[in-house]
Amino acid sequence: MLVSSKELLLAAQKGGYAVGAFNTNNLEITHAIFRAAKAQRAPILVQISAGAIRYAGIDFLPQIVRTHARLADVPVALHLDHGPSFEMVMLCLRYGFTSVMRDASKLPFDENVAEIRKVVEAAHAVGVPVEAELGRIVGAEEHVVVSEREKAMTDPDEAAEFVKATGCDFLAVSIGNAHGFYKGEPNLDFDRLQAIRDKVDIPLVLHGASGLPDDQIRTAVSLGICKINIDTEIRYAFTQSVRKTLAEQPEQIDPRKILGPAIDAMQAVVERKIALFGSQGKA
Ligand code: G3H
Ligand code: ZN
Repeated sequence: MLVSSKELLLAAQKGGYAVGAFNTNNLEITHAIFRAAKAQRAPILVQISAGAIRYAGIDFLPQIVRTHARLADVPVALHLDHGPSFEMVMLCLRYGFTSVMRDASKLPFDENVAEIRKVVEAAHAVGVPVEAELGRIVGAEEHVVVSEREKAMTDPDEAAEFVKATGCDFLAVSIGNAHGFYKGEPNLDFDRLQAIRDKVDIPLVLHGASGLPDDQIRTAVSLGICKINIDTEIRYAFTQSVRKTLAEQPEQIDPRKILGPAIDAMQAVVERKIALFGSQGKA
């Protein structure tokens, strides 16, 4: 069933586990995510970015998720990932998303606050919770200089001020996490996460979790991360499977024979993450 992210993340916060937030772009990825959630009896967020909406269409992709959610006996939230504008948030509210992220993290602090406040006012008016980001979560390839990466990290005092000023429901933090696969060994700044946790009581979100070692994920969850975003590892499983099938069967022209194994490969990734995040059996 389709539910609000707020109830999923508050339950996770109370229970000391994290809910997986998995990005989808098409039918096959969505099938894989739902098969995994049902097999693991796990609550999940299925998230759609502006790029995914551009690719698959606002009249199609959310409908696939909503249909799955209606038929599934596990709780599912439909979430806008990295919403790039107020207008995109409004569009998603109109299409029945049950939570939205407005990513204004590139803006200076005061402008980020003003933008999130505006989004919170509108989304809360229709009962939809809002995720915001403070500090910048960069791409793995960006900011090779360590001092630059540190400058992009979330400041704990600012986080407290930000949450109070905006009324946002969930906060995405920058603690050394990056989108895409990591170049070199990732090292999350757990002292910083602890300091944020000490000052902020809403559920915290970890973006860029693909490629993070399991022990770092477990530590992050123990320090209050309640929502963990995975995209890259799903994409990787998909493309690796398609490459393998086509290499083994160069004459194959049936999309079902090419994409079917890719669904299985993605499902395995999502099931593993659900178990790692501790949300197995929590539905
Ligand atoms: O918002 C999406 C996630 O942060 C994706 O992170 O590239 O590590 O899978 P990822
Ligand atoms: Zn992200």
